[in-house]
Amino acid sequence: MKTVLVSGGAGFIGSHVTVELTQAGYNVVIADDFSNCDETNYNGVCKILGKELPLVKMDFCDAEKVDGLFKEFKIDAVIHFAAFKAVGESVSEPLKYYRNNLLSFMNILEQARKHGGNVLFSSSATVYGQPDKCPVTENTPRKPAESPYGNTKVMCEDILRDSIKAYPGVRGIALRYFNPIGAHPSALIGELPRGVPNNLVPFITQTAIGKREKLSVFGNDYPTEDGTCKRDFIDIVDLAKAHVCAVARMLEGRMEERYEIFNVGTGTPLSVMELVNTFEKVNGVKVNWEFAPRRAGDITAIWADPTLANEKLGWKATRTTAETLASAWAWEKHLKEIGK
Ligand code: UD1
Repeated sequence: MKTVLVSGGAGFIGSHVTVELTQAGYNVVIADDFSNCDETNYNGVCKILGKELPLVKMDFCDAEKVDGLFKEFKIDAVIHFAAFKAVGESVSEPLKYYRNNLLSFMNILEQARKHGGNVLFSSSATVYGQPDKCPVTENTPRKPAESPYGNTKVMCEDILRDSIKAYPGVRGIALRYFNPIGAHPSALIGELPRGVPNNLVPFITQTAIGKREKLSVFGNDYPTEDGTCKRDFIDIVDLAKAHVCAVARMLEGRMEERYEIFNVGTGTPLSVMELVNTFEKVNGVKVNWEFAPRRAGDITAIWADPTLANEKLGWKATRTTAETLASAWAWEKHLKEIGK
């Protein structure tokens, strides 16, 4: 059995990936510093899987701890999620973002250089900025980042590319996520933002349940059919499955190049208003919302061409938006039940 280290494995994406990897037959070691989450998702993961998984509480910026981790476990592949992700905060605290997001990743790459290794980096569609044309393929040129957060994604991709070029034992894949939403069908794991959510779907569910008074829909004068922004919303379980395919590709020696990049999206855009309307319809609840001015830094529209992932990873998004939004609502109701 192969062992996969999941850094940031107690977070939103990391917890879903841990479940899918374990169910696909991998041993998973979770490492997390719990700086941006509590143990809710870790406990949910154990409940879904019916067993405790190894959990190491540590900060990946601590090179000695990372070294110790790689000595303690024989790690066949690493998936790196442990990073800060609040776009606005990254603008006011750039050094916090550069230090954490770059240093933690370099410490992992140092181990991959030493031991030889397979590294999966969680990148983002943010690297495309506002593309000249949609859908975007992996060859669509990246644009200068709009925020330090976005820049750490661009820089980590480059650090991975250059490390793979320089160190013969290292292989890696960057997955560029579009907008991950929803929760596990068990409603035992999901997105648990601290404080006021920045992202759309947690804001919708928190408004619907009464934690927030009103959802602001940022901008109704964009050059789109209904005037609101368009995104490629990708179900979190579908997204997690893309990681299983990517890990298998690395570990089974099926990579065509030592560094590969894949878009992880549905290929179908949805506007913010369409998403809000679908949420209300599917769940039979009202969301109190109003139009508000555009949010600084938002792009008008972006969606993926997922052909490469479909063909090379053998992966495809399968859950419908209705299923995904029902799962997001079930998760919010679960949080209420457990007093979160
Ligand atoms: C953002 C980040 C992206 C990151 C992703 C994580 C940028 C520019 N964006 O994407 O890098 O990977 O989060 O999920 O770096 N909206 C509202 N009201 C709200 C919240 C959002 O109308 O209260 C709208 C936004 O204006 C946007 C859409 O919903 O048009 C999606 O927003 P959000 O969920 O924050 O994701 P992105 O900004 O696309």
